[in-house]
Amino acid sequence: MANETNIFAALIAHCKEYGYIFQSSEIYDGLAAVYDYGQNGAQLKKNIRDYWWKSMTQLNENIVGIDAAIFMHPTTWKASGHVDNFSDPMIDNKDSKKRYRVDHLIEGFADELKAAGQTEKADAVLAEMDALLAKDDFAGLKKLIDDNKMTCAISKTCNWTDVRQFNLMFKTEFGAVASDNPDDNIVYLRPETAQGIFVNFLNVQKTGRMKIPFGIAQTGKAFRNEIVARQFIFRMREFEQMEMQYFIRPGSQMEWYNYWKEERKKWHESLGIPAEKLRFHDHIKLAHYADAALDIEFEFPFGWKELEGIHSRTDHDLGSHQKYSKKKMQYFDNDIDPATGKPYGNYVPYVVETSVGLDRLFLTILSLAYAEEKWTKEDGTEDSRVVLRIPAKIAPIKLAVLPLVKKDGLPEIAREIMNECKNSFMCFYEEKDAIGKRYRRMDAIGTPFCVTIDHQTKEDNTVTIRYRDTMVQERIAIKDLKGLIQEKIN
Ligand code: GAP
Repeated sequence: MANETNIFAALIAHCKEYGYIFQSSEIYDGLAAVYDYGQNGAQLKKNIRDYWWKSMTQLNENIVGIDAAIFMHPTTWKASGHVDNFSDPMIDNKDSKKRYRVDHLIEGFADELKAAGQTEKADAVLAEMDALLAKDDFAGLKKLIDDNKMTCAISKTCNWTDVRQFNLMFKTEFGAVASDNPDDNIVYLRPETAQGIFVNFLNVQKTGRMKIPFGIAQTGKAFRNEIVARQFIFRMREFEQMEMQYFIRPGSQMEWYNYWKEERKKWHESLGIPAEKLRFHDHIKLAHYADAALDIEFEFPFGWKELEGIHSRTDHDLGSHQKYSKKKMQYFDNDIDPATGKPYGNYVPYVVETSVGLDRLFLTILSLAYAEEKWTKEDGTEDSRVVLRIPAKIAPIKLAVLPLVKKDGLPEIAREIMNECKNSFMCFYEEKDAIGKRYRRMDAIGTPFCVTIDHQTKEDNTVTIRYRDTMVQERIAIKDLKGLIQEKIN
């Protein structure tokens, strides 16, 4: 059994052992901050993505989904401000040559202070860092690091360079045509999915005859050359975002910002995340595109961290694409403005964005689900299990079908149950090992229901259903099984 401090390490090991997450290219010793999802992880990720997609596009009549390409015209990133502004202040340790994001280095130092009981000093350091970051005061940040003798995790020295900006976009070459100017062929791997939505704003608005306010949603990969990529899948170099841009009238942004902030928190709670594990954190230093921004934070095993961002992006993106592309990014609003009695007319819409990292949400779900349990049985002996209490509606496998023995016609009945159910939800068939061992394996994967077919089944067409969370078992008729599970997962 892992204790509080190493529960996160136990979760990471569990993810590998049960086919959730593997280090990318593990046979070559891996690639830092890049991960692969295994058979159960890929299914859980898909279920979370589908749940988000349905909530956005099916349950909101005025939100539609698109799937834009990862590669975009390079001017996109000039217009969005990412070429000039998507950078973080970095510092290098001269001895180890290791580069750190300044905020991560200072946050790590504050975490150590907190662990040593110096909470007040930690809070003061973090407050000073926030103030310096807000002013882009690099000399002040360097002084804060030096004055507190912050050390490099590798060299253990405080021998630091000056603080410098470092762009986080990955570049690659496009096409095979050689050019005199190497920059001609450069394209970027998108650092956010949002720009694919902005450049398609008019295509979707016109072809979908969308009326403001309306939203465009998208899920997909994003890439950032994160310098300090740590905490497992929390900060990756290749990750997936689920973003929605909500196009609104200029001036209504605070109303929609507050609306989406509450809606998104409620949505996370609908996934079983307790309200007390979520909080809002207003940004002090705003991104280059925002006039208001906050994070929905979750209390991860390593502390409170950003799960989702809500940003009021004004008309920055559409306005800027209009300027760079010389194509109008306007909307004609023929609703009557009560202030003037005339139609609102032509304008570049404002945008409120909701942006959640799929991998980060995955980690949230798993860190809540992972439990190591111990209890005393009726005969006085000890028992234990590791269980993933993943909400049934997103669990990778919903039902395990388990014939008690591999003979006497039980596998045949089990196969009939599989055939009846597998079209409606994900099922898993297993006949190897003792039934107790099979239950434990299903607990560890997070399968909410197991059904066991035994000799009594042949007599009365009933089976035993076992519930993962309570371990309660009850006998039900085979004919009621599928309906019961469907009711529970919906
Ligand atoms: N379009 C706005 C945008 O990209 P962001 O706050 O930079 O805003 C949004 O990112 C979300 O994407 C974050 O809240 C986080 O969940 C996720 N995210 C960002 N960087 C990430 C990384 N390196 N690894 C995993 N998830 C990341």
